[in-house]
Amino acid sequence: MTKPIPRWLVMKYGGTSVSTAASWSEIDRQVRRATDAGQHVMVVVSALAGVTNRLQQIANQDGDWVADLAWIRDQHNTLATAVGIDLPAEVSDRLNELEQLAQAGRSPAEQASILAQGELLSSQLGAAVLARLGRPVRWQDARSLLQAGSAEHQSARAAYLAASADCDADPGLAASLAEQGAVHITQGFLASNQAGQTVVLGRGGSDTSAAYLAAKLTAEAVEIWTDVPGMFSTNPREIPSARLLKVLAYREAQELASMGAKVLHPRCIAPTRQREIPILIRQTSRPEIEGTEISPHAREVGAQVKAIVQRQGITLISMEGLGMWHQVGFLADAFALFKKHRLSVDLISTSEANVTVSLDLSEHLLDGPALQALTDELALICRVKVIHHCASVSLVGSGIRTILHKLGPALEVFEQRRIYLVSQAANDLNLTFVVDEKDANKLVKQLHQQLIPGGVGGDSVFGPTWEQLFKQDEPVRGEVPWWVAQRPALLEQLGHRDCAYVYSVDAIRDAANRLAQVKACDFMLYAMKANSHPEVLRTLNQAGIGMECVSMQEVDHALEVLPELSPSQILFTPNFAPRREYRAALDRGVNLTVDNLFVLENWASDLRGHEVFLRIDPGSGLGHHKMVRTAGQFSKFGIPLNEVGLAASLARQHEIRVVGLHAHTGSGIMVPDNWERTLTALGELVSHFDDLRIIDIGGGLGVPDKQDQLPLDTVALNERLEQVKSALPEGLELWIEPGRYLIAQAGVLLARVTQTKGKGDVRYMGVATGMNSLIRPALYGAYHEIVNLTRLDQAHDQVWNVVGPICETGDVLGLDRVLPESSEGDVLLIANAGAYSAAMASHYNRRPPAEELIL
Ligand code: LLP
Repeated sequence: MTKPIPRWLVMKYGGTSVSTAASWSEIDRQVRRATDAGQHVMVVVSALAGVTNRLQQIANQDGDWVADLAWIRDQHNTLATAVGIDLPAEVSDRLNELEQLAQAGRSPAEQASILAQGELLSSQLGAAVLARLGRPVRWQDARSLLQAGSAEHQSARAAYLAASADCDADPGLAASLAEQGAVHITQGFLASNQAGQTVVLGRGGSDTSAAYLAAKLTAEAVEIWTDVPGMFSTNPREIPSARLLKVLAYREAQELASMGAKVLHPRCIAPTRQREIPILIRQTSRPEIEGTEISPHAREVGAQVKAIVQRQGITLISMEGLGMWHQVGFLADAFALFKKHRLSVDLISTSEANVTVSLDLSEHLLDGPALQALTDELALICRVKVIHHCASVSLVGSGIRTILHKLGPALEVFEQRRIYLVSQAANDLNLTFVVDEKDANKLVKQLHQQLIPGGVGGDSVFGPTWEQLFKQDEPVRGEVPWWVAQRPALLEQLGHRDCAYVYSVDAIRDAANRLAQVKACDFMLYAMKANSHPEVLRTLNQAGIGMECVSMQEVDHALEVLPELSPSQILFTPNFAPRREYRAALDRGVNLTVDNLFVLENWASDLRGHEVFLRIDPGSGLGHHKMVRTAGQFSKFGIPLNEVGLAASLARQHEIRVVGLHAHTGSGIMVPDNWERTLTALGELVSHFDDLRIIDIGGGLGVPDKQDQLPLDTVALNERLEQVKSALPEGLELWIEPGRYLIAQAGVLLARVTQTKGKGDVRYMGVATGMNSLIRPALYGAYHEIVNLTRLDQAHDQVWNVVGPICETGDVLGLDRVLPESSEGDVLLIANAGAYSAAMASHYNRRPPAEELIL
């Protein structure tokens, strides 16, 4: 009878996962889970936390080896005491051996032997701990399990300190180990070379060992147990809204690891990928979290940015030469020098006269001297410049090429950053920008906010956010929206209606109070185009806010609804409006903005003797969508900077007093830089005008679309404005004119479910009103959070497309939304529907838009 083929599971535990008694109990539990399921287990351990760093210091002869050794001894003693055992004799012997090694020489071979002690110690102590917990375990010397490959093409240092090992399937080994027992423990990071000497595998070596062993044993899976539950959409310690990536294809994981995600070393993926062995990343202290699975079965769910990662410490080499273009062999000559000096190139970009490449020097055991030698020799064939302190910021995900057009708005964040190099990977898995190191964190944050869906789970790719996993007691950033507490009142107010807009006066006041903290601004106007409901205007006016109007109808409406309002608190900002509106505005005595030389050239007689504001186009705009950017050559608004001199002299000539300069660059902007730049740009024009009293930096202040997005930093906004303002002539007033910020979050659209439908994989949930009430999703692809208000307490765990009753395929309120199973008559709440929602509604299909109610 043939013996059954043994089933193997490889479990790797990192440094923090082997340092405490509690984590050894967990290791024991997990081992039992596997053996109960009939698997043989190979536990691969790292050194106790901090030990490798100390060994590295000893190996480098940095610092005091006696103190380092005492510290290492102490760590092992502490762990032994915590689990209630004496330090095993083999561990004490090994510590004495380490003492001998520390006093010996420092050849690469000796350094490797020193570094190897950390894992040898932890695995021997670990074997004793598991035995104490009642788990019989066989200690295996990794040096007899893994053999380093030929070192022919490697330097001596690399051969000992960054070795790689063989990983061909070895059924003989799998069978003989299985015969020895069910549970084995061995060291990560170590192997032996052909001469039987100890070598180590380089950074991230324990993961790589686990992968090699899994390949050799043809394991069913490798589990990487560590101090985080998996790979995230960005570094979660920097950005807590980072989302756990539930599944990844090998090539995506490889790319992520290579581009800077630290959880897994990129080298450990190839051996498992070849044999289609899944890698599961789990957190030792939170084993209940599902973690990330990297597997052959990961469906690549179409083109998608899955993560944004950065790598610091990038050095660029720019090679410039006039004769480079079409000069046969230039690249070959240049790269031959990189090869000669053993520097491997990561990214490349080329132009006619310049080739720039990036190096990650931290990946190299080589350093300054190699770089110097390389640049000296390169200088003989081209002009060389070395740019240090760069970082790469990469968008990672499959099919990046096919979604470039969607990245447009997100890429605006690069507007003010220096980009040295852009590279789109040939494998179509990443798009990388090399920028100054100091800019990288901020860029990653902004790109993550714009490109990674925020969320509540229920997604096949993105799991919970870091914050949801680890700060469960605190609300996810920002506040719980007001409508959660107002649920009963909202449902009652809707009554028997099919749909309605409901506005909360308290929420409007809250927004106004928040903006009142931007003390740099002397006066605030409300851009009433966002929502001109009388109660909204009254609430804002009571807070001392003026009105910005874009038509005479808005001016008349403001004066009618707010009889107390002085015309001087109204700013009329027409654009391509007929001449009579300018005359009417002057008659009413409201402030008037001129945004075109045409007006000064042709209608000056109407304006003579009056005061005006000039609307300037500072040259570039921002905004949540290209259709709401209101500056730059392709926007119809404002007087371009190069015409300001002419505008000033026309005004002077016609005795028109320019008392205000105005600019509004776009809408839905989340970065304070925008207004800082606007103020700076307008400030530079002050000297053209003698009567100037006011600078109005427009509106455009955005609100988060999703609950886990960061709100606009109004404190930073205030600081930036104060700073620019302090350099301007004394007495100039600063005005601001937000619309969205004051009203967007205060309004919700309620709509009842009408029907549901399934078509293939796609499920549709229909509601009683659609783009006739809320056109923003159809027009700008805008995201409005949607919840089932009737079933707010139930798990939102199914994916729906929420659509309206209008006869257009674009009549969509939300795609791929996570909602509960819902029934006809349930009330959906569409959030952030206070601004540009009812205001942009229509009677299309003769369906009246939702009625507006005040809570
Ligand atoms: N000032 C001027 C001169 C404006 O043109 C606007 C908006 C504002 C102030 C107020 O911008 P806010 O703070 O609301 O972003 N329908 C688009 C928004 C168009 C904004 C037009 N101008 C949307 O739904 O996103």
